[in-house]
Amino acid sequence: MALSIRTLHENFAAEIGGVDITREVDDETFRAIRNAFDEYSVLVFHDQPFDDESQVAFSRRFGDLEPVARNRVGGGGGTSVADISNVDPATDTILPVDGEVMTYRSGNELWHTDSSFKAIPAMASMLSGREVPPQGGETEFASMRTAYARLDPDRQAALEDLIAVHDYTYSRGLVGSKLSQGHQQEMPPVQQVLVRTNPANGRKNYFTASHASHIVGWPEEKGRAYMEDLVARATAPEDVYTHEWRQHDLVIWDNRCVLHRGRSWEKTRYRRIMRRTTVAGDGPTVPGQSH
Ligand code: OGA
Ligand code: MN
Repeated sequence: MALSIRTLHENFAAEIGGVDITREVDDETFRAIRNAFDEYSVLVFHDQPFDDESQVAFSRRFGDLEPVARNRVGGGGGTSVADISNVDPATDTILPVDGEVMTYRSGNELWHTDSSFKAIPAMASMLSGREVPPQGGETEFASMRTAYARLDPDRQAALEDLIAVHDYTYSRGLVGSKLSQGHQQEMPPVQQVLVRTNPANGRKNYFTASHASHIVGWPEEKGRAYMEDLVARATAPEDVYTHEWRQHDLVIWDNRCVLHRGRSWEKTRYRRIMRRTTVAGDGPTVPGQSH
């Protein structure tokens, strides 16, 4: 099997070719994909017509999958495949842009990293483009590894012992989405370290996102501004890889070290149907944190 790797941005992201990942992948090929994931942080595969079952099977090679939250606005629960779309599966019609479900999903248009509001934040996400709009609806990525490497050593050292509070109720509030009481109780604020290290290659990055509300022990506004600056440093236009979707693309990203956000599209006009599987992280980033 001749796996090809073509870099998509000078600092990160690569397109992988020469492999059909909708079918069982042999161990050697999988290892090459897994290594590329640690190296490039974002992997793009074209022409992979997944259904939910084959997407779950491939995703499971990376580890256990996160269940989709039960109380989530717009359904979900009892499955490991999240519906990231503007189409109501019950009626197969476009959802109202100002309705509860689409307001909630618009939180994806803020720079974030998946599940950082959980005690064990996600390792990887895999997004499958099942039906994509002819224009708009891109997904953008930025590397917090590259941005960390650019900081001067004093600044890197200053980040080392900081801990941030990540809070889903806070970040959904940013887009005017109100979580149900049950959902809020299911997702209490959690703590995450601000500096993470990739266990496979020792590369470090800072770790923050829209879900990060403040820094432990700092005045709320000061911590928020500090983290907004870190996000801004990572997401300068020249440092962003923009993925323009083709139907049947699969994009995998490393939530431990990249930020991503969805871009808008003509939501009343075009359907956009995406499915996401999420590979769980291997533990809390702050020792001893259990919920
Ligand atoms: C996600 C997400 C962005 C998009 O699925 O986690 O943030 O472009 N998606 O759909
Ligand atoms: Mn996301």
